[in-house]
Amino acid sequence: MTVEDSHHGAEIAARTERRWATVSVIIVVVLAVMAAFAGIHRATMPQARVEITDPSRLHLSGEFAESNLGSVLEANGAVTVRAIGQQYSFTPACLLVPAETPITLRATSADVVHGILIQGTNINTMLVPGFVSEQLMRFEKTGDYLMPCQEFCSFGHEGMWGKVKVIDKADFANRAKGGGRLSCVGQ
Ligand code: CUA
Repeated sequence: MTVEDSHHGAEIAARTERRWATVSVIIVVVLAVMAAFAGIHRATMPQARVEITDPSRLHLSGEFAESNLGSVLEANGAVTVRAIGQQYSFTPACLLVPAETPITLRATSADVVHGILIQGTNINTMLVPGFVSEQLMRFEKTGDYLMPCQEFCSFGHEGMWGKVKVIDKADFANRAKGGGRLSCVGQ
């Protein structure tokens, strides 16, 4: 090997190394751009579907009027639960739902931002005044769950707790026969 050959070899090695360094920098930049896009762009996009309500008139008429709150068995066998959060309680304070059934929770706030968290599940949504929060859920087993408010909503926040009672599917269907809205308040 001549001196010239080894110079030539070192040059090739240096060039290859630079090329790979460039490639790795490009990969890092692409990943950073993807992370920024996912985190910033998507977080600032509105939801695909936004439903609004008027928090000052909730109790008067419409979907969240008091007589319409609670659980209802739909014609297709699914269940819809409507609830509102207000300082410092949920209405209904105890949600009655059947096991092994697709459930849609629709809820909103009558005053400030609250949250619904059903302990022991991944069900967790914010209740924002003026907007309807919709959350799909399903319980495989009967039982009771605690449902604390998980957004600080002023001095009574610590005491804002609700409950979810999951009962047997047939039992629920029986109770739903008379129509109306079901809940487990006072049970
Ligand atoms: Cu409602 Cu915290």
